[in-house]
Amino acid sequence: MERRELREQNRLSWNGAVRAHDSHRGDLAGYLRAGGSTLFSEELELLGDLEGKTLAHLQCNSGGDSLSLVLRGAAVTGVDISEEAVSSARRLSAEAGISAGFERADVYDWLEEAARRGRRFDAVFSSYGIVCWLPDLEAWARGIAAVLKSGGRFVLVDFHPAADMFDERWARTHAYPSGGEPLLLEEGVGDYVAGSGGGLTPAGFMEGPRGFDNPHRCHLFRWGLGEVVTALAAAGLRIVALKEYPYANGERLLPGMRELPGRRMAPPKNVSAVPLMYGIAAQKI
Ligand SMILES: C[S@@+](CC[C@H](N)C(=O)[O-])C[C@H]1O[C@@H](n2cnc3c(N)ncnc32)[C@H](O)[C@@H]1O
Repeated sequence: MERRELREQNRLSWNGAVRAHDSHRGDLAGYLRAGGSTLFSEELELLGDLEGKTLAHLQCNSGGDSLSLVLRGAAVTGVDISEEAVSSARRLSAEAGISAGFERADVYDWLEEAARRGRRFDAVFSSYGIVCWLPDLEAWARGIAAVLKSGGRFVLVDFHPAADMFDERWARTHAYPSGGEPLLLEEGVGDYVAGSGGGLTPAGFMEGPRGFDNPHRCHLFRWGLGEVVTALAAAGLRIVALKEYPYANGERLLPGMRELPGRRMAPPKNVSAVPLMYGIAAQKI
């Protein structure tokens, strides 16, 4: 099957999950309107000062982070393949009274079109569940480099591929991801917002409907961290920082995770420390 067709299936699977995810977020609009933020200190540190900057937020989902970035002074364009996610983001923007542009597109098409039309940004940002949806890292990295202004910064914070080596009991049973090997998930995008029990809902957790069942399967692509960094470097971006963290922000990736202060999820006490998240800052030279 063509990679585009896999991405289209992913679009349907995301469309199927957005409403369930949003049902748990509480009064996010009110929270943002009052100056609250959904961002974590890790991405804020890597992004640096955003006042007056233009920023493209790729794979922005329902836009909570996009609007939080606006509150830090950036002019934000959010991009996502899912029309449900983009509608949700536009609704959130209107309800919160915080303005940002949201564009529905496959990230590959969007990057190509934006570069062709001469659109350039001071910063490009993506976070938490990004690389696993990308079948081609080189085209992605080239596209990002093409839409950054000279001196502009790309920041990615994502779950660490090492986390994918563990099974539900924290036994190291899977190979380290590499080569973008596709992985079919028959169950599709799940309700990980419910499963994180408050970790992803800073405005307060709402129970929402239970027993969510996604009718659309999805396809992940398994990449190692070295492959991500190499693709960015090959696209002409200078790696300014590469950080690894022994916890995952917000999301309970596996059963038994302990919640540390600041909605950070760590492995159970009997599991040795392992990187569960990484952050990259790279600069267009
Ligand atoms: C796990 S979410 C990212 C989380 C997001 N940062 C947040 O704050 O909620 C992944 C997002 O990637 C989007 N996505 C997946 N494949 C895509 C593609 N090919 N182009 C654009 N967006 C894509 C999905 O629709 C989904 O909204």
